[in-house]
Amino acid sequence: MRDVLVTENIAGDGMDALKKRFDVALEPQLWKDQEALLRVIGAFRAIVVRNQTKVDRELIMAAKNLLVIGRAGVGLDNVDVAAASERGVVVAFTPEQNAISVAELTLGLMLSLARHIPMADVSTKAGKWERQVFTGTELFGKTLGLIGLGRIGLLVATRARAFGMKVIAHDAYVSPDSVAVADSGATLVSMDELLSQADVISVHVPKTPLTQGFIDAGKLAVMKRNVLFINTSRGEVVNESALLAALKEKRIAGAALDVRAQEPPSSGELEALANVILVPHIGAFTMEGQKRVVTSICGDVAAVLRGEEPKHFVNFARPRRA
Ligand code: MLT
Repeated sequence: MRDVLVTENIAGDGMDALKKRFDVALEPQLWKDQEALLRVIGAFRAIVVRNQTKVDRELIMAAKNLLVIGRAGVGLDNVDVAAASERGVVVAFTPEQNAISVAELTLGLMLSLARHIPMADVSTKAGKWERQVFTGTELFGKTLGLIGLGRIGLLVATRARAFGMKVIAHDAYVSPDSVAVADSGATLVSMDELLSQADVISVHVPKTPLTQGFIDAGKLAVMKRNVLFINTSRGEVVNESALLAALKEKRIAGAALDVRAQEPPSSGELEALANVILVPHIGAFTMEGQKRVVTSICGDVAAVLRGEEPKHFVNFARPRRA
C-alpha cells in the first residue's frame, strides 16, 4: 500500500515536509486521465488535489484504502463529499488560507475594468499613446454589490470601503445581526435591490445546485447599463452565453472573469470582446496564499495518516472505515 497520491501541481515547503515523512507519488498531470486515476487510486491512503481532479463517487468507491481526501483550496465542487462520508473518508480542505489572495485579485480586476488597465497596456506597448480612449471611471462614491458575503466577500467589502465605495450585499445565509457584516460596513439588501443599484457586481458564492447558472439573462437584464461584473468564484455560477449577449449588446459595460464554466475554456467570443478581462483562475495563486494552502493541507493529510485530527475538515475528523 502507498501513502499519498498528488494529482495536480502542488508544491512548496508543506509538500516537502510531507514527502520526508510519507511515501508521496507526485503525478501533476493525472487529473487529466480519469481512467488512469481509477486504476491506481486503490493503492493509496490519501489523495491531494486542487480543483481539477474529479474526486467523484466512482473514484471514491474505487479507493479501497483511502482515509483522507485533501483539497488544496476552499471550493468543494470537484469532491463528492457525500460519497466520501458514506465511505468514512475524511475530507480536509483550506477554508481561509487563500481568501485574502482572492479578495485582492477581485479589487485588482475592479480597478482594471474601471481604468481599462490591461487594454491601455496592450495599446501602449503597441506604440500608441491613447489617453482619451482610456478615460475610465472612479470607484469612489460608486456602489459595490456583493453576491455572497462569506470570508472572501467580507474581505472585499472592507477593502472596497477603503476606496470610498458604498457596499451592499446579498447572502441568504448571513444574519443582518452578524458582527462581521457590521464590521465590514456592508448593508444587506434583496437580490433585486443589489442588481438594480450596484455599479460594480462581484460574485462570491460556491458552486452548488442552487447557484449553478444563477447569473442568467433575467438577472443581467436588471443590472445597470454601466455595471462592471466580476466573477472570482466559480464559472458555472454564471450563464456564459447570457453574459456574452449582454456584453455584446452593451447592456452591461464590462466583465472580468477569473473562472470559467469550462477550465481551461475553449476559446470563444468572450475572448474577442474589448470590454472583457479574462485571467486563468489565479485568485488563489499568490506566494503567500499558496504557502498557507499547501502547508495547511499537507499538515492535515499527515495528521490523518498519523491517526490524529486535522485542523480543517468538512465531514469528520477521523476516518470511519470498517
Ligand atoms: C479555491 O477554491 O480555493 C480556489 O478557487 C482555488 C482552487 O480552486 O484551487
